[in-house]
Amino acid sequence: MCPFWQLDTGNFFTDNYYIMSSFDQIVELIADDLSAIEVKLTEHTASEYSFVDMAVQHVVEGGGKRLRPILVVLSAKVCGYEGNDAHTLAAVVELIHVASLVHDDVLDEAAIRRGRETLQTKWGNKVAVLVGDYLHARVLSMLVSRRADDPAMAILADTTQAMCEGEVIHAYKSGDFDISEAEYLKIISFKTGKLIAASCTLGAHLRNPTDTQQVEALTIYGQHIGTAFQIVDDVLDFTEDADKLGKNTFGDLREGKLTFPIIYARTVCDDDEKQMLEKVLNPNTDEAEAIAFVEALFQRYGVETHCLKVAQDYADRAKAALTDLPETPARVALEQLADYVVSRES
Ligand code: FPP
Ligand code: MG
Repeated sequence: MCPFWQLDTGNFFTDNYYIMSSFDQIVELIADDLSAIEVKLTEHTASEYSFVDMAVQHVVEGGGKRLRPILVVLSAKVCGYEGNDAHTLAAVVELIHVASLVHDDVLDEAAIRRGRETLQTKWGNKVAVLVGDYLHARVLSMLVSRRADDPAMAILADTTQAMCEGEVIHAYKSGDFDISEAEYLKIISFKTGKLIAASCTLGAHLRNPTDTQQVEALTIYGQHIGTAFQIVDDVLDFTEDADKLGKNTFGDLREGKLTFPIIYARTVCDDDEKQMLEKVLNPNTDEAEAIAFVEALFQRYGVETHCLKVAQDYADRAKAALTDLPETPARVALEQLADYVVSRES
């Protein structure tokens, strides 16, 4: 097979084999970096107290795509940086991500994450909340030795603040059936987009923080794939198999949370369906009835197809932001990653 950067990208969206293989090939391209990042993740989170260590490693080692670390490394490479600091920052963003998922699973009362029992299923809410806090403490410790003029601290402080704000607003709005698409897009740009964008910004900064054009291009790329990623995440919650996803499905519906597909369905369905949709979003409604209604509604109005098209538009905008970057394998990998975010099945 030819190298992945020479593959015809024209049919990536429809040809599943190429899509999956492109992600594997991206992982292969930066395999050494990813191994070094795994070592850092383990080293920097180890605790001398065996129970703490077991609980922490349960989530740190718990798989996942390592999308954010991949973005740090590729963003650094496309700007010409090849040093080890990318590994530290990649581990930092992954730990912030893992901490946020640990807390998110408590909020969502989720039983499974990345194919494993969640911390609260295994050891209860108290342990889960505190392990999330512990991971933040480790992040601080990894950042504390950086130079005073390093922008990473400010970027990450701003990012974690936005993630919290996004989650608080989403929780506050969870019972609001009239939430607008624009409001929802703002929430996901905060809770998901910010950290994905920050991963790209941090990588780009490593080479030359003063090249604002490259930093801005990669930040915009990250913001757009962040939005695409969350829209697809919302779709998969309704359409994909729980085993394949490695987490519970229909969670948003069960919680009565409006997400992108439901907001779209609400705007295109008729008044009776809209009334019924509001009813099934009430957590007291029988779950099987709610799922059957929503699945039929999605089918009738082509909701999945519409949402994936919107996500692909964001992915296309992300790719367009890279136009002025050097045409290296790292740039091709970033372009392919944008398509993968939309075509992924888990
Ligand atoms: C998963 O989204 C959750 C997030 C993207 C962010 C969670 C953020 C917080 C809990 C705020 C606290 C932040 C930190 C840094 C501790 P989802 O629920 O839509 O996806 P899921 O289906 O995978 O759960
Ligand atoms: Mg969740």
